[in-house]
Amino acid sequence: MAGIEPQPGIMEIALYVGGKSNVEGVSNVIKLSSNENPFGPSPAAQEAVRRAVHEMHRYPSTDHAALREAIAGVHGLAAGRIICGVGSDEVLQFLCQAYAGPGDEVIHTEHGFAMYRLLAHAVGATPIEVAERERVVCVDHILAACNERTRLVFIANPNNPTGTMIGMAEIERLAANIPPQAILVLDGAYAEYVEGYDGGARLVEARDNVFMTRTFSKLYGLGGMRVGWGYGPKEIIDVLTRIRQPFNLSTVALAAAEAAIRDTAYVEKSREENSRLRAWLAEALAEHGVPSDASTANFVLARFGDADEAGACDTYLQSQGILVRRVTGYKLPAALRITVGDEASCRRVAHCIGLFKAGER
Ligand SMILES: Cc1ncc(COP(=O)(O)O)c(C=O)c1O
Repeated sequence: MAGIEPQPGIMEIALYVGGKSNVEGVSNVIKLSSNENPFGPSPAAQEAVRRAVHEMHRYPSTDHAALREAIAGVHGLAAGRIICGVGSDEVLQFLCQAYAGPGDEVIHTEHGFAMYRLLAHAVGATPIEVAERERVVCVDHILAACNERTRLVFIANPNNPTGTMIGMAEIERLAANIPPQAILVLDGAYAEYVEGYDGGARLVEARDNVFMTRTFSKLYGLGGMRVGWGYGPKEIIDVLTRIRQPFNLSTVALAAAEAAIRDTAYVEKSREENSRLRAWLAEALAEHGVPSDASTANFVLARFGDADEAGACDTYLQSQGILVRRVTGYKLPAALRITVGDEASCRRVAHCIGLFKAGER
């Protein structure tokens, strides 16, 4: 293939590795590796999918008006400033495509979500990794890394895989001090798990350099449907809409997401169960000598003595049919990320880690 070369940056991309979903020879695995809602999607979303099946021969809506109206209604937002994507990943991709290219820099943090780096490379931009402070995003470090080439600053708040978050005052300080040509992107994939947190929506409305992304993949239990959305200044939404494919979301996915967001009782129940079981799991692990930072999301980052111990525990859990996530690629080789499952799963994973730590395995 002499002479045929991909665009610059593409060969820098290390392929994304998703959470494991099976173990050879083990049936009935407990999957705590991808931060999914253990209770699945709302029954209303399932019913909407059943009904939408009859419309599969029709092209879907191209402006996503019904879903945008539903999101706007539930969150008190302006529908005209919402854009929907194939997961929030696609919205993050639109931002990179529209605002970064060769010679530009895209900032992400040390233990930030893996897609930021990958998407920056995909458009030929340079990802810039900024140190965190004890697994928490550091605004001063980010500001120190900004320059005239900075186009995008990505922060997941709460962050994956650390589960930590920073407060609104710090986010406002960041937004106020990034260079004029840069956009602050607040990735709110786990925002729904934080009681009383709007993901940065009010800040988006107050400023012209802040953009928020959200997803239906986590609390709404619709990871398989691939629906996410972004909320931003009208000018940025207009730009992103030009590069969005007109039929990016299927009829079935749109119907599921619209029903899911309207089922606020289900959202509330999922959030409450998550908070209760997350606290229980973190405490149970701590009793077994496995600390974790206070998590604000639907997972805990369990810290072990070193990488070997984390690896051995992961192998042991797999032998017991429990899948958690190694996060070596996130520069956290001595940690395992454990999704908060249902009560039985939380008890089982805590019990097995207890046996592992006691050397009784
Ligand atoms: C921080 C963060 N942002 C974005 C995403 C992307 O989610 P989706 O594309 O399913 O909306 C994830 C998924 O793991 C995530 O953890």
